[in-house]
Amino acid sequence: MRFSALSIAVLTLVGAHSPALTKRTSPSLSLTDADAIPAFNLPTLISTENVEANTHNIEAIRATLALYPLAIDGKNFDSLSRIFAQNAVANYSAPLNVLTPLSTIQSVLKSSLNPVTTQHSFGTQLIDILSHDSAFSVTYYTATHFGRGTFGGKTATAFGQYQDVWKKQQDGKWKITHRNLIYMGPLIGDLTIFTFTE
Ligand SMILES: *[C@@H]1O[C@H](CO)[C@@H](O)[C@H](O)[C@H]1NC(C)=O
Repeated sequence: MRFSALSIAVLTLVGAHSPALTKRTSPSLSLTDADAIPAFNLPTLISTENVEANTHNIEAIRATLALYPLAIDGKNFDSLSRIFAQNAVANYSAPLNVLTPLSTIQSVLKSSLNPVTTQHSFGTQLIDILSHDSAFSVTYYTATHFGRGTFGGKTATAFGQYQDVWKKQQDGKWKITHRNLIYMGPLIGDLTIFTFTE
């Protein structure tokens, strides 16, 4: 059961954003574990209950998320193990599509970003603790890709959001078990930079 570890968290989310349901404990069965949350529903998704008690967990997740741009932009793909669980499933949308497990996330991101250097910047972010060991976050990002070699000076910029399901691990660390990367606009710039080879 690939999704068993996150099914409770996701089913809780599904309950929260279904217009017909007001209780997080009443999951809708119309969506599967892997579905992204529609943008229209995101503003009403995040709970405001019990915020004080969750501050420590929220900050632990925020700090872990902050490692992601550092890992990618620093091309330290091994360090993605600090962010994603070993069995994580990440839907990076086309052309990368679904990447799993962690070792595939690492190798595919490494090879697809090899032609460029990058800067990933986080913007709007909400982190919601769902239970003692499950959480959901949505984080807007802008990712600028810089051409190398003959493509120096050229850029391509992506605008999107990460929707992440988190599970507190046995060692107490929060890790992403499921990610949906959703593009929020077209890739702007010069896509030929991705054809660079050394
Ligand atoms: C991956 O995400 C994209 C964009 O949200 C979606 O269209 C696609 O159906 C997803 N793929 C899977 C296998 O869930």
